[in-house]
Amino acid sequence: MYTGLKHFHSFFAYFVLLLIAAAVIIALLNRNGKQPFAGTGRKLALFGLIAAHLQLLFGLVLYFVSPLGIGNFSGENMGNSTARLYMLEHPLMMIIAIVLVTIGWSKAKKAADDGKKYGTIAMWYGIALVLMLSRIPWNAWPVAG
Ligand code: HEM
Ligand code: HEM
Repeated sequence: MYTGLKHFHSFFAYFVLLLIAAAVIIALLNRNGKQPFAGTGRKLALFGLIAAHLQLLFGLVLYFVSPLGIGNFSGENMGNSTARLYMLEHPLMMIIAIVLVTIGWSKAKKAADDGKKYGTIAMWYGIALVLMLSRIPWNAWPVAG
């Protein structure tokens, strides 16, 4: 169960990051409001949200079965930057980022016009992407798979 989940989480991270990044790029290009919030632009934002939520769900389970997750949580390990990344910083920062994606989607749905919808996605998904990239375990990924 652990190995399978770990590989899934590792592999699915590509989808999450690519979809969120693509949603941000399309949203930045369409902020001027000349394109309707529909078709590819809207779908990328929606699929980015769904991918992020799925990654959250599997990440949460992984946190409880991985030896690097909650099982490794201790005051002593706070002083070890690699241990701290896996037991605390990565999970916490990813949860914050996924909350920002969800707020962005929710606000975009309610925004008054197409330009504002894309602008909302660009900002919230953009900040989320930066936060995600800041706490990927780059030492172990993408090489390990
Ligand atoms: C730990 C698991 C999850 C949590 C805590 C969670 C939480 C949320 C929250 C708070 C919203 C925002 C509702 C709103 O204000 O519009 C939302 C929306 C959504 N979630 Fe999740 N979710 C989870 C898992 C999933 C999964 C597994 C999927 C699908 C594979 C999913 C798909 C969606 C979709 C499509 C929406 C947007 C619906 C809309 O258009 O308003 N979520 N979720
Ligand atoms: C945007 C969301 C996320 C992305 C892109 C992401 C990405 C990654 C990546 C690339 C790895 C390294 C996998 C490898 O070694 O090949 C990883 C590991 C891990 N992630 Fe996430 N993650 C996300 C969310 C979460 C969440 C929400 C949690 C928990 C609440 C979580 C818990 C973990 C744990 C415990 C590991 C270490 C697994 C192990 O090596 O034993 N992740 N994540």
